[in-house]
Amino acid sequence: DKGNHRHFMEKEIYEQPEVVSHTLSHYIDFAEGRVKLDSAQIDFANLDRLAMSACGTAYYAGLVGKYWFERFARLPVEIDVASEFRYREMPLTGRMAALFISQSGETADTLASLRYCRDNGLTIGAVVNVRESTIARESNATFPTLAGPEIGVASTKAFTCQLSVLAALAMIAGRARGTLSAEDETGMVQALVGAPRLFNEVLQSIQPQIETLSRELSRFKDVLYLGRGTSFPLALEGALKLKEISYIHAEGYAAGELKHGPIALIDENMPVIVIAPHDRHFEKTVSNMQEVAARGGQIILITDEKGAAATTLETMATIVLPEVNEIVAPILYALPVQLIAYHTAVFMGTDVDQPRNLAKSVTVE
Ligand code: M6R
Repeated sequence: DKGNHRHFMEKEIYEQPEVVSHTLSHYIDFAEGRVKLDSAQIDFANLDRLAMSACGTAYYAGLVGKYWFERFARLPVEIDVASEFRYREMPLTGRMAALFISQSGETADTLASLRYCRDNGLTIGAVVNVRESTIARESNATFPTLAGPEIGVASTKAFTCQLSVLAALAMIAGRARGTLSAEDETGMVQALVGAPRLFNEVLQSIQPQIETLSRELSRFKDVLYLGRGTSFPLALEGALKLKEISYIHAEGYAAGELKHGPIALIDENMPVIVIAPHDRHFEKTVSNMQEVAARGGQIILITDEKGAAATTLETMATIVLPEVNEIVAPILYALPVQLIAYHTAVFMGTDVDQPRNLAKSVTVE
């Protein structure tokens, strides 16, 4: 049932404040203001490496998770798309664990990667949405995303719930490894606790501007997404979402890679969507935007109040979000990215919930 919504995808986008909050409450003690250590059945303190794998959007969630595990828990992460991971013959040692991410819990390549790690004796954790799935069953520890059934082929609420679980797990690992101070933990927990209410406000406030922008975007054949740090996986996710449902060709790049090739494509016919909260990467990303502007490229900037105040560049649109803790940023920035894809596809008249050639769950390799 779509309720008042035109598509399941739209309904699922608007469900995010609620399902993210529900998911977070599984891993975070809101009253205590700390993560629930016993919600992790992985001995993070004694690991020297974590292997991660997934496909598509779940892989991008994992990429954000890598930044978090390395930054907050000082735990090195090896991550790869499952179709590569399963054949890489990655050397695995006793002090590693493996973490797989899957909405459906049935993705063939992810499952094969899991079995490779299990056969090599690793402890297996899985972030899954479907709790009775094969991937959940074959894992030692399951970390549920409480997103509820996701019907739209383009993943939205599963992604933000995956990010929520990974944020909590990175904090749990950070506490277990003694690399995350109680003060930082409390600050991040507070930010996460306040996030769902903020998401509600943002979804309402940005919607009209994104509709206008999406009407313009629907005239283009190519779109480039750029980001640095945890905004880089968001750029990849933005490009995937747009191509999946609007069929507009889109690419996501690490902003620093611009000069290494994609800058050759910049002209007035390829809008560049820059995901750039005012974080420690902001200045660098601004200089990439200047390079785009100098070549006649049109910029759509997604930033926060501080970032908007700090740039004087002319943009096609600037979407301004509230300033948030760095652990909340990727979850918050997923919202405009999803809405841009959604509204652009609606203008193009495509089958948003059931895009051509795609299946919700890819159970063959
Ligand atoms: O069920 P899974 O999370 O394992 O699925 C992984 C991908 O197939 C999935 O995220 C796909 O990329 C979506 N269509 C993205 O919107």
